[in-house]
Amino acid sequence: MDPDARGYDDFYRHFDSPLMQQIRREAYGEDIGQHSWVTAEELRADVSLLELSPSSRLLDLGCGPCGPLTFVIGLVGCQGTGADVSRSAIAAGRAHAASLGLAGSIALHQLDLNELLPFASGAFDAVMSLDAVLHLRDRSSTFREVARVLAPGGRFLFTDAGVITGPISNVEAQSRAIHGYTQFVPPGFNERALEVAGFRLQKVEDQTASALKNAAGRLAASLAHRAELVALEGAASFERQRSYLEVVIGLARRGTLSRMMYLAEAEAGARPPR
Ligand SMILES: C[S@@+](CC[C@H](N)C(=O)[O-])C[C@H]1O[C@@H](n2cnc3c(N)ncnc32)[C@H](O)[C@@H]1O
Repeated sequence: MDPDARGYDDFYRHFDSPLMQQIRREAYGEDIGQHSWVTAEELRADVSLLELSPSSRLLDLGCGPCGPLTFVIGLVGCQGTGADVSRSAIAAGRAHAASLGLAGSIALHQLDLNELLPFASGAFDAVMSLDAVLHLRDRSSTFREVARVLAPGGRFLFTDAGVITGPISNVEAQSRAIHGYTQFVPPGFNERALEVAGFRLQKVEDQTASALKNAAGRLAASLAHRAELVALEGAASFERQRSYLEVVIGLARRGTLSRMMYLAEAEAGARPPR
């Protein structure tokens, strides 16, 4: 395991506790089991861009405890594969899928996305990745792998909450990176990396508003349950999360760190060699 990705592993251990479920309901209104900035409303709209059908094979990279992946499988009736480096995420994802009666529609893999993907070329019709690429050391190489595992014409939708669109201090960058290795990129970086990997860009959308809404909701709900959270995870962890959420909110309000959504299509015949 990438040692820098452990921040999530600890957090996911309590992910389905009644307290965390309660906090997510208060924070998001509609809790789909996400641990990202995606809202249910936004995901419903974005899924339509992937043009999925019940026969589709969908891969979710950095799936976390599989809230968004099971949500999409439930909406479309397709088959889903999830991959995440966190052991706790995969365990929570399996339990979550089983509780929704979706165990037969999902396959989960604990793996490091900094390595080559263990899937055959053309194995998927669509790939999504919600707020995970900023943790990758070389996203260009991962994009090439995504192009390889997609069938020609397959679609790739991802969100990146780390696009630098204004001045950020070292203190803010440090607080924003509590989950481990985090790479912030300038505007245009993802677009170029997609093109080089063999994708045709279809759409780019600023979804910073979702990050702001979710972070503000999470902060308010956490503060309302402060005593229980401190008892569950300790005071130091509570304060780290609090300053993280405050920084996310501040950066989003100032428009200095943006969350962008990218939709791209794999060009037929442009599959790079493994
Ligand atoms: C912000 S969470 C998003 C989880 C999920 N996509 C969601 O929307 O709920 C980012 C996820 O990326 C995963 N991740 C970070 N680095 C990774 C890596 N090198 N390989 C695989 N997964 C990684 C983390 O474990 C975490 O679950």
